[in-house]
Amino acid sequence: MTSFLLGLAIGLALLAAGMLVQAAAFRKLRSYLRDAMDAIVEGRYDVRMYDYRNRPSEVVLFRQFNRMAERIEETLADMSQERDILRHILQNMTTGVIYLRSDGQVQMVNHAAERLFRRPSEQWQDRDHWMVFRNYNLGSAIDHALLFGAPWSGELVIREGVTLTVRLVPISADPRLRAKADGAHDVLMLVNDVSEWRRLERMRSEFVANVSHELKTPIAAIRGFAETLLDGGVDEEAQQKFLQTIYDESMRMGNLVSDLLELSKLEATDSRVDPVAVDLYEVLERAVDRIGPTASERGIRIVIPPRDPVQVWAEPDMLLQVFLNLLANAIHYSPPQSTIRVTWDVLVDRIKVHVQDNGIGIPQESLDRVFERFYRVHKDRSRASGGTGLGLAIVKHIISSLGGEVGVESEEGKGSDFWFTLSRLDRPVSARSR
Ligand SMILES: Nc1ncnc2c1ncn2[C@@H]1O[C@H](COP(=O)(O)OP(=O)(O)OP(=O)(O)O)[C@@H](O)[C@H]1O
Ligand SMILES: [Mg+2]
Repeated sequence: MTSFLLGLAIGLALLAAGMLVQAAAFRKLRSYLRDAMDAIVEGRYDVRMYDYRNRPSEVVLFRQFNRMAERIEETLADMSQERDILRHILQNMTTGVIYLRSDGQVQMVNHAAERLFRRPSEQWQDRDHWMVFRNYNLGSAIDHALLFGAPWSGELVIREGVTLTVRLVPISADPRLRAKADGAHDVLMLVNDVSEWRRLERMRSEFVANVSHELKTPIAAIRGFAETLLDGGVDEEAQQKFLQTIYDESMRMGNLVSDLLELSKLEATDSRVDPVAVDLYEVLERAVDRIGPTASERGIRIVIPPRDPVQVWAEPDMLLQVFLNLLANAIHYSPPQSTIRVTWDVLVDRIKVHVQDNGIGIPQESLDRVFERFYRVHKDRSRASGGTGLGLAIVKHIISSLGGEVGVESEEGKGSDFWFTLSRLDRPVSARSR
């Protein structure tokens, strides 16, 4: 009996001891698990649980935990990769993108928007849209979009010469946040710069207006004189004069039309210019041969450098046109018996050609404008010769499509120095041609 009781007591003691050990092990497991969970909560998704006692029940649990942690890690990596891609796209777009939260504050802007509004991102983040844009029409459109989800698009002139198109796209805000926010929608704002388009449109309509104006004057003159002649009763001498005027005016219209054709041809072939090695001296000689008689009529001398072949990268006919236009101007805007000099400076990889005259010169305030289409400083003088104000515009167009620059220095009453640059080639033409 005693031995039975003793046996029972020992058995119970062993059981109790076993339970105590088990409870201690369980506590340990629980705290291990809690630590691992805490790590996940804190965002350390690389945490893993390791089995150190080889208990099958624990092994299964740890494996499950590790699988879960792995999945979270993978999903987050995928999401962050997608987010990076989207961020790159957003930051490298030419369209300005601004995301406004439903409370009207800026949540995000991309580089294009920073550039368009000339405002660094620090000056947008978490600021109210009224503080950022300070534009009544835009501000009220944004408020409308935030509150009622109304889309909007319009144009905005933010600075002199800068026109933007703005599109507001309302986005239904997260219902959980909606209760807290003032507005019901987030708003995506898309901004594009259309200044260049507007400028081109304006230029085109100005161009058409200029051409019509230029044509109106000679047409009116021709019509007027023709009517007088048709009415009859005009003496021989007057008749001759009227006919001469009709002839001159029609020449002027002819010049205008051919200059316009030249310009539009240049514009159409702009990207297809095919420069080759050209002997600058030879082209100049051709120009002087062609224009020499006009100069001699007025006793004007054209002095060119001694023969010395210089190779430039150009299109021979275009280069000839440049010389003809510059020489024609120099002759036209110089007094009789004066001298025109063509010279060039050889620079490292370019050549700078000057056409200088001792003529009437150009006032300082017009220097920037003489290369514009239809701009004439000496309106009467230019008109009398049938000038249309397109010659220098053509010169500028040709030189820039050959990759060079043009310019002018001038002093009123003393003369002008028109110059242009072209790429220079070291080797003679024959050595380069295949
Ligand atoms: N060498 C020069 N000296 C003084 N003024 C000049 C000279 N060259 C050009 N100009 C001024 O610049 C203006 C523009 O020149 P441009 O050659 O473009 O037109 P244009 O000579 O009037 O007409 P065209 O189209 O027949 O050449 C001229 O009207 C003239 O007032
Ligand atoms: Mg001219």
